[in-house]
Amino acid sequence: MSVLSGKKILLGISGGIAAYKTAHLVRLLIKAGAHVQVVMSPASLHFVTPLTLATLSKRPVYSTFYDEEDEKGLWNNHVELGLWGDLMLIAPATANTLSKMANGTCDNLLIATYLSAKCPVYFAPAMDLDMYKHPSTLESFHKLEAFGNIIIPAENGELASGLSGEGRLAEPENIVAFLEKDLLRQLPLKGKKIMVTAGPTYEAIDPVRFIGNHSSGKMGFDIALQAANRGAEVVLISGPTHLQIDHALVTVVPVVSAQEMYDACHQYYNTMDVAIAAAAVADYRPKNKAPQKIKKDDATLSLTLEKTADILASLGKQKTHQFLIGFALETENEIENATLKIQKKNLDLIVLNSLNDEGAGFAQPTNKVTFIDRNFTIEPMELKSKEAVAFDIVTKIIQHYEA
Ligand code: CTP
Repeated sequence: MSVLSGKKILLGISGGIAAYKTAHLVRLLIKAGAHVQVVMSPASLHFVTPLTLATLSKRPVYSTFYDEEDEKGLWNNHVELGLWGDLMLIAPATANTLSKMANGTCDNLLIATYLSAKCPVYFAPAMDLDMYKHPSTLESFHKLEAFGNIIIPAENGELASGLSGEGRLAEPENIVAFLEKDLLRQLPLKGKKIMVTAGPTYEAIDPVRFIGNHSSGKMGFDIALQAANRGAEVVLISGPTHLQIDHALVTVVPVVSAQEMYDACHQYYNTMDVAIAAAAVADYRPKNKAPQKIKKDDATLSLTLEKTADILASLGKQKTHQFLIGFALETENEIENATLKIQKKNLDLIVLNSLNDEGAGFAQPTNKVTFIDRNFTIEPMELKSKEAVAFDIVTKIIQHYEA
């Protein structure tokens, strides 16, 4: 999944021949999961049709303050548009539009939207090589960069004039890559490595049977996604589950048994900054796995179980610099038991689920948790979706690094 997924992008198109490339640019942004609102300068309408862009962006395209043919006389509110965006991209940005942006010459909807936008603004210039080098254009660049706007430099190559040189609009693929790289760089967990355990473990009884539990893995998968969305590189070590995750920053390591999960965790742990144990690991496993399917010859069947290794406790023991988070599922003396677990397993934070709370637990889409940290600060949270709980857990990690 791209870091652009879910991002609201205001795409301002100004009037240069490179505007024809914006059809492809919109397609790439939509493919990356972004929502794209196109705002066109009047001059750009000569180069690419609003119908093309509206079809590709699945939104109406705006180019005027109001539609003269619309009897209702609806006003295209540039302030609302400006506030809607998570980022604004002006591509192609012609010399004329750049000069208007730099000087606040607000004579069309695109510039009014630009002046109203509170979000980061990127601009991708496109013009002939001499225009690109002209001191007036360079002055616009400097002014805009001083406003905090970010330039996506033009590329070198053949120009519409027939000349060759610097001034070509950056290729749509390169614009998207530039945005992705820049957004990633700003994310709070950029450069952090996070390991998450998720799901149940299956402990084999014989080749076809196992002891397992009802964990869906959702909590761990949601944490992995939220951490990756905020820039972390995530290793998700998961027991058997139907869940899938598609994110460039998440590596899934599938395991089956508690021992496999233990081995995978220790393979990655030393290089990790954070480890979160959200898996429902089996506490016991059959002492001996029958080599063949067990026949139902007897009226009763006894299995001897042995303890599995406590993965989280072993991570606590080997902790050097890692921020270690565990879960606790308690039915009585919740706070007291969870607090003891922090000490016993050498944790930095415990996420307590109390089965006494309605909406908390295994097969629910919601969870009600209480955070307890190693200073025994207790923070009860509201009942929330598991995604929202995952977001809160990742926020705790960010706060740890900001402190
Ligand atoms: N955990 C683990 N490995 C195990 C068992 C548990 O990593 N073999 C982790 C879980 O992922 C979770 C925490 O430990 O983060 C949960 O512990 P929990 O099962 O609630 O408590 P236990 O320590 O097993 O103690 P008890 O069941 O006796 O309360």
